[in-house]
Amino acid sequence: MAFSKDFIWGAAAAAYQVEGAWNEDGKGPNIWDVTAKYNEHIKHSETGEVSADHYHHMKEDVALMKEMGLKAYRFSISWTRVLPEGIGKVNEKGLQFYSDLVDELLANGIEPLVTIYHWDYPYALEQIGGWRNKASSDWFLEYTKVIVDALSDRVKYWMTLNEPQCALGCGYLVGAFAPFQKCSTPELLEMGANMLLAHGKAVKYIRENAKQESKISMAPYADCYAPEDDSPEAFEKAYKESFVSKGDQFLFSMSYWSDPIYLGHYPEDFMAQFGDMVPKFTDEEWAMISAPLDFYGVNIYRVGSGNASRGEYGRDWYQGRPHTGIGWAVTPEALYWAPKMLYKRYGLPVMITENGMSEHDWVSLDGKVHDTYRIDFTHRYLRELKRVSEEIPLVGYMHWSVMDNYEWADGYDERFGLIYVDYQTQKRTIKDSGYWYKSVLESNGSEL
Ligand code: NOJ
Repeated sequence: MAFSKDFIWGAAAAAYQVEGAWNEDGKGPNIWDVTAKYNEHIKHSETGEVSADHYHHMKEDVALMKEMGLKAYRFSISWTRVLPEGIGKVNEKGLQFYSDLVDELLANGIEPLVTIYHWDYPYALEQIGGWRNKASSDWFLEYTKVIVDALSDRVKYWMTLNEPQCALGCGYLVGAFAPFQKCSTPELLEMGANMLLAHGKAVKYIRENAKQESKISMAPYADCYAPEDDSPEAFEKAYKESFVSKGDQFLFSMSYWSDPIYLGHYPEDFMAQFGDMVPKFTDEEWAMISAPLDFYGVNIYRVGSGNASRGEYGRDWYQGRPHTGIGWAVTPEALYWAPKMLYKRYGLPVMITENGMSEHDWVSLDGKVHDTYRIDFTHRYLRELKRVSEEIPLVGYMHWSVMDNYEWADGYDERFGLIYVDYQTQKRTIKDSGYWYKSVLESNGSEL
C-alpha cells in the first residue's frame, strides 16, 4: 500500500485563529472581533485579537513549516483585512500581507492552498443582513475577485467555504459561535441558499479569470457513520445514515451542502420536509452552484456520534472511551469510511483539508513538547487513510493545525498544533509530533 507520489502532505490554519493584529494596518472588524468579547459562550472571554500573532511572525512561521518538511499550507484570508467594510475600498496593506505570505511559501517550496471564507464575516455586512441579504452572494463575489486577481498568478488551489455547517449552524441556529444568533428556519434556508450561490459565483469567477489553471473545491466537515459489521447491509445502513438531512439539524448535515454543489439538487429527505419553504434557484444559478469541481475537500475528525462525551453511552461511546482534550472520540476509522462514502456519493478524488486533535500540551523541562498521544492519534488515522488509498483516489492530507491557535468558543485551552505557541512570549516550539510528521512526509507514508 502506498500514497501516490504526488500526494500533497501539508497542514492548515485559518486567519482569525492565528493572525492576531485584529485592528492593524487598516483591517476592518469582523463578527468575531465585535461579538466574541465577553460572550457567555466563549471560554475565559478569549478572542483572536492577538492569538499566535502570525501576522507579525509570518516569516518565522513559514521557516518552521519548511523545517517540518511541509509540502503545502492551507490558510484562509481575512475578508476584512482585504476589504475592511466587506465591499468597496480595498486595503492594499492587507492584500500585501497575503501576497507576501504566498511569495514566502513558494520561495520555501510550499504550495499555498487558499480558503476564501473561514467564518470571520465582515461586521459591516452583518449589520445590513449578512447572509440573509439577497446581495450577499454578490458581496462574496466582489471579495473573491479582489483576492483571485491579486493571487491567482501564484495560487492554484482554492477552497470557497470552510465548514458552512458550523458557520451557519453554530453562528445562527445554536448561537454558540459569532454572531451568536438563533434564527428561524425560513431565515436559515435563505442564508444557506445565499451561501451556496456565493460558492457558485466564486467558482465561476475563478474558472474564468484565474491566471493559471485552478483546482477548486470547498471544505465542509464529514462525520460519517462506521458500519456495525463487515456486511454489505451494514455498509448501506451506515451510508444512508451518514447522508440524512432533516429536522432543524439539516444545516449540520453533509448532504444539504454537498448534494447541491456536487449533484446539482437538494437532498430528497430535506426537500420532502421543507419543500415549498426552500428558496428557488434559476437554471442559471443551479448551473453555477453545481459547476464541476476538481476534488472533494473535507474536514474529518471522527465518525458519526463520536461526540457524545456528555451524553449517554451508546453505540460509539462507552465507559473510558479514548477521547481528545476537547472531548471528541478517537475514531481513526473515520479516515477510512468517510472518504470511501464521499467518493461513492460524489465521485471525486478526496483531499483531507483538516484532521488532527487537541490536547493540553505543555513544554517539558527539557524544552521540548512530548505529545506522544498526537503522534499515536495521527499514526492511527493515517493508517486508515492509507487503507482507503487502495480503493479510491486521494489528493492530499492537511493536518489541523500547523500551530496552536484560537479554538473559537474553546479559546486557547485546546491546542491542535504541530507547533507549540507560548501565548505569553510568542515563542514557538515544534512538538515531537511535528518532527514525526516530517518523517512521514519524507517517506511518503510508507512507514505508517
Ligand atoms: C474545524 C474548523 O474548520 C477549524 O476552524 C477548527 O479549529 C477545527 N475544526 C477544530 O475544531
